[in-house]
Amino acid sequence: MTGQAATAAIGEPNLSARELQARVHDAMPALERARHIGAPLRSYRNVDAVIAEMQPTEPVFCISPATLREAAKSFQSFPGRPLYAVKCNPHPFVLETLYRAGITDFDVASLDEVRLIDGIFGKAAGQFFNNPAKTRPAIRAASQDHGIRFYTADCAEEIDKIIAETGARDDLVIAVRLATRPADARYVLSTKFGAQPDNAAEMLKTIHERGIRAGISFHVGSQCLAPGAFAAAVELAGKVARKANVPLSVLNVGGGFPAPYPGDNIAGQEHYFGNIVRAIRAIELPRGCIVLCEPGRALVATAGTTVVQVVMRRGRNIFINDGVFGTLQELGHPKERRPTRLVRSDMRAAGSPVDFKVYGPTCDSNDVLGAPFTLPDDIREGDWIEIGMMGAYSLSMRTHFNGFYADDIVQLGE
Ligand SMILES: Cc1ncc(COP(=O)(O)O)c(C=O)c1O
Repeated sequence: MTGQAATAAIGEPNLSARELQARVHDAMPALERARHIGAPLRSYRNVDAVIAEMQPTEPVFCISPATLREAAKSFQSFPGRPLYAVKCNPHPFVLETLYRAGITDFDVASLDEVRLIDGIFGKAAGQFFNNPAKTRPAIRAASQDHGIRFYTADCAEEIDKIIAETGARDDLVIAVRLATRPADARYVLSTKFGAQPDNAAEMLKTIHERGIRAGISFHVGSQCLAPGAFAAAVELAGKVARKANVPLSVLNVGGGFPAPYPGDNIAGQEHYFGNIVRAIRAIELPRGCIVLCEPGRALVATAGTTVVQVVMRRGRNIFINDGVFGTLQELGHPKERRPTRLVRSDMRAAGSPVDFKVYGPTCDSNDVLGAPFTLPDDIREGDWIEIGMMGAYSLSMRTHFNGFYADDIVQLGE
């Protein structure tokens, strides 16, 4: 019955320290269970210790809990309640660490994610089923078996479906996903989902007239480099709500908060939150409207590291044991850069830095990284490369293509 915890949220945008403590306490037995969902993580001091002790010939994915806790802490100043977008990295160790650090609500997109969160935290976590295109059985199970009451839709058909499959439960809340205007974001998320303003206003009216609480959500795009995009989207949401003349119960400003990848030169988080605060003040939300965000990347990106080994060198091309069909999926994009460091078992000094084209291990010609790695010119077979800031959309995007599957996962520090 995951919905119960979230029920308390309406009209109470922020958990008090005591309420948070109570939630963590409620989830304790489940957290202990979560440890056993996957193999318990081996713990190492740092990446050098991983390499020295494991001498890994398969990729190793490292998770730093201290970095996760830091990221969770940075969202304490968000003017509302941060949910974690499970799709970004659903490893139980990540979920548990974020939960203990105060992120006790989750944006889920599928029944499997719903079951995962319910299985670990039970009623002590809030869940928001925010995929705008859901199957009927998924909605039914989410409502009946898991108590979820928060849903998202971007068309009239989906609204009907949610109402029918949840039996229009008394506590139902439906948010209308609004398409946002193009912004400086690496991954645009308003071409597939999101209603245009006039349609969104009609949908809000429909929801309201059917006696159901209504809200608005949007996503300005992932790795959004323009803090002003959030203000523009909140402003648009305010206009849509005014046009519909419907009081909002929820305003969900989505994810998109960027990670500090090399070359992206991001503005500080305070600029993002500042834009959101000012825009929310200007649209005068009704009392009791809860403000949500649902970051993925900004909570987990800096906490993940992939350690790979050089399998072969051919001139200025290197072939490594992980690639775009593994944890390096995002690095297929030419603008995606990550900090890299060569690690050699004899720790001998290496040559001067040059650019290498980097290929993954599969037979597919697309298994190539979009941007070069700058590495010492004498790099050779058997050297390792530490690839930092890999926590987001890495574990969750792995495939078994060609028989490669990066599944050695360890913990860095406590
Ligand atoms: C509905 C929804 N919410 C949140 C997120 C997380 O976005 P980000 O990782 O950019 O913060 C996504 C990403 O695809 C999404 O589709």
